[in-house]
Amino acid sequence: MTAPHEDAVSSENTQHQARLLPGKPVADAVFAELAPRIEALVAAGHRPGLGTILVGEDSASAGYIRMKMDRAAELGFTSPHVHLPQSATQADVLAAITDMNDADDVDAVLLQHPTPPQIDFDAALLALDPDKDVDGLHPVNMGRLALGMPGPVPCTPAGIETLLAHYEIPVAGREVCILGRGTTLGRPLALLLSQKRDTANAAVTVVHTGVPDWPAYTRRAEIVIAAAGVPGILQPEHLTPGVTVVGGGVRYEGRKLLPDVDESCEQVAGAITPRVGGVGPTTIAMLFRNAVEAAERRRA
Ligand SMILES: NC(=O)c1ccc[n+]([C@@H]2O[C@H](COP(=O)([O-])OP(=O)(O)OC[C@H]3O[C@@H](n4cnc5c(N)ncnc54)[C@H](OP(=O)(O)O)[C@@H]3O)[C@@H](O)[C@H]2O)c1
Repeated sequence: MTAPHEDAVSSENTQHQARLLPGKPVADAVFAELAPRIEALVAAGHRPGLGTILVGEDSASAGYIRMKMDRAAELGFTSPHVHLPQSATQADVLAAITDMNDADDVDAVLLQHPTPPQIDFDAALLALDPDKDVDGLHPVNMGRLALGMPGPVPCTPAGIETLLAHYEIPVAGREVCILGRGTTLGRPLALLLSQKRDTANAAVTVVHTGVPDWPAYTRRAEIVIAAAGVPGILQPEHLTPGVTVVGGGVRYEGRKLLPDVDESCEQVAGAITPRVGGVGPTTIAMLFRNAVEAAERRRA
């Protein structure tokens, strides 16, 4: 945890009002906390293992997997990898998952999304051992989250809770409005931030396409989290001055990243994640936190 303004980045643009909340210092703090835990596991003869499965030839997905494997190697993990061809069948994917479930040197498994159209991703996810589900998206883990039981927590929601805590943005007792109820972000984030815990414990409202006047809710919130995947959906007129804004939703057009939060929101917000390097780095840190916790549970 740092002092409130320690990691703030000031912009050279004099019009820029909001304090920026970059994700990298948050991720660095998480990795620093994980390092001695990884050392302890290795010293006890249990080198943590992150298994990865990539199906197909999507170059962006291959890049994400490579980046995660490189980070795994840096952290001292083993990182067994299976690359299935674009033509792989559901049975091929299930066989790879079964092998990872059974592998003694694998504590956590990542099935890279998206998979080719012939693959039923949700069915594949169901085959994964929930205790090795590093993304925390298996229905058993969503159930554990709803019940407040320990287990892997979806990475981006966990990253957002950690980011707010790192910058000492008060969440407990505050009004948080989440724009989007998707299964990877909005819905698990609502469960997480309403849990009874110092870094959560919020009054959470979730808005979506079923709430046409959703700005009425974002305008009264003290923290607004964009989780829609609709570029520029969040505009300054949807915010109350001084609000904290977290941009989780993004859409990619090729390699171009289009965030939900319009740039001009920086003129109204009191604190805001940067358009690039905001929530993303915290997501990866949470993936490794889930993997370390999975290794610790298996070791225990
Ligand atoms: N930064 C990261 O590392 C990271 C990780 C995971 C996800 N994400 C991003 O987070 C976003 C959400 O992901 P997801 O899988 O949870 O999303 P999703 O399943 O696509 O859900 C999007 C949500 O936004 C709502 N929405 C869409 N358009 C809207 C509109 N015009 N007005 C009001 N609500 C609207 C939808 O409402 P309905 O339910 O009514 O359709 C839905 O609840 C995506 O952009 C994804 O790329 C980022």
